[in-house]
Amino acid sequence: MKTVLITGANKGIGHEVARQLAAKGFHVFVGARNAKAGRKAADEIGKKCGKATFLEIDVADNDSVATAAREVTKISDHLDVLVNNAGIIVDGDDAILEIGDELFRKTLETNTLGPLRVTRAFAPLLRKSKAPRVISVSSGGGQLSDGADGWAPAYCISKTALNGVTVQLATALPKFAVNSVCPGWVRTDMGGKNASRSVEEGADTIVWLASEAPQDLTGKFLRDRKEIPW
Ligand SMILES: NC(=O)c1ccc[n+]([C@@H]2O[C@H](COP(=O)([O-])OP(=O)(O)OC[C@H]3O[C@@H](n4cnc5c(N)ncnc54)[C@H](OP(=O)(O)O)[C@@H]3O)[C@@H](O)[C@H]2O)c1
Repeated sequence: MKTVLITGANKGIGHEVARQLAAKGFHVFVGARNAKAGRKAADEIGKKCGKATFLEIDVADNDSVATAAREVTKISDHLDVLVNNAGIIVDGDDAILEIGDELFRKTLETNTLGPLRVTRAFAPLLRKSKAPRVISVSSGGGQLSDGADGWAPAYCISKTALNGVTVQLATALPKFAVNSVCPGWVRTDMGGKNASRSVEEGADTIVWLASEAPQDLTGKFLRDRKEIPW
């Protein structure tokens, strides 16, 4: 049975990715830092769609990530797919010259360092897969090619740096498929109710990369199943 871990899967895009991959026959590890919300999400997905196991994981906390990797090792001898989905925008992230170090640090800790530390911790299990895949949920806000529009600078910079992590990991892990995805503007707690896309639309490219995309597609940034500029 194929296995996948999705971080921040208790709600939003991560929850939808978990639901769809369970329906496709994956054993889904539903990662969440909030045990109550994570257990509830895993129970719901397990009842309706297939095999889902709650996994407590706070991507901003090294000990939590290390414990989570040990827990998965007790249940499964391999991990096929890691979806680094957990992410935050911190209140007050609206003017580059006024952002304090703490806000910046907190944003980078979760959005950039988080995916790197989770990938590092789960690499031994991923290496045991025949076709390991790492998908990091980034944002068009992190693209450098069109310049910045000033919106949420710390968040956008954290996603630019996350894309750097993707490229470095793709080089370091040549047998893996490692990619970044922009889900578009999605109706979640983060995206708000006026966003243009449903969670199903936001999850589409992530689910495709996890299950159907060619294994030699690596080191790219994608939206709507197509490569986009960094
Ligand atoms: N929505 C959009 O328009 C949009 C656009 C581009 C990119 N994205 C990206 O898509 C991803 C998912 O966003 P979303 O829209 O689904 O947001 P969301 O509904 O706010 O969900 C974010 C998820 O990340 C979790 N999370 C945050 N910090 C965490 C940590 N330290 N450890 C573990 N989990 C943590 C949250 O857990 P709690 O419930 O405990 O807070 C929640 O499950 C993010 O990386 C985001 O940057 C979203």
